[in-house]
Amino acid sequence: MPNNLYDHIDYVLINEEQLQKRIQEIADDITAKHADHENILLICVLKGAIIFLADLTRALKRPHELEFMAISSYEGKGTVPGAVRLVMDLKQDISNKHVIVVEDIVDSGNTIKYMRGLLEARMPASIEVCSLLTKPSRREVEVDIDYVGFEVPDEFVVGYGLDFDELYRNLSFIGVLKPEFIPSH
Ligand code: PRP
Repeated sequence: MPNNLYDHIDYVLINEEQLQKRIQEIADDITAKHADHENILLICVLKGAIIFLADLTRALKRPHELEFMAISSYEGKGTVPGAVRLVMDLKQDISNKHVIVVEDIVDSGNTIKYMRGLLEARMPASIEVCSLLTKPSRREVEVDIDYVGFEVPDEFVVGYGLDFDELYRNLSFIGVLKPEFIPSH
């Protein structure tokens, strides 16, 4: 494996400037929609969304809190396709909060469907989903996304929080991996 991860990138799909511009627009939408709310809570789904969260939180002009959750998919023999499980829960009650779930990408939709069900049962004041990317061509379940950054094609995208085998999260852009680095190619 070459030392320089940039050598693994086929092409840049969304550059840093485009990302930052769109994130500010999303933050402005959230700021406007929640202009009357004091108790806004951003819930970041680990780990992919951390970079997006870090920029989104600084672009938001309303006071808000941050929380983190970790979800994992079940893999292997005998598991139900699309099943996910909670790996790390919130540290606080959300019953009076305006919750915004922050994701890096909605792919099959299974993670967000699970998150919505779990959080809705805890009776927040409101619940919305904000995802930097959406890949509708891979959807397995229907999900509502309230704020979307970009729709991406069915390519293996990495960078800006998104990984392959835990690498590439630190790239400041969204890129497409070269075919030779894509599993099963
Ligand atoms: C990715 C991404 C979303 C989820 C979306 O997480 O961050 O949470 O997959 O996929 P879905 O719509 O098909 O459920 P991943 O499990 O790769 O973990 P990571 O965030 O730690 O990279």
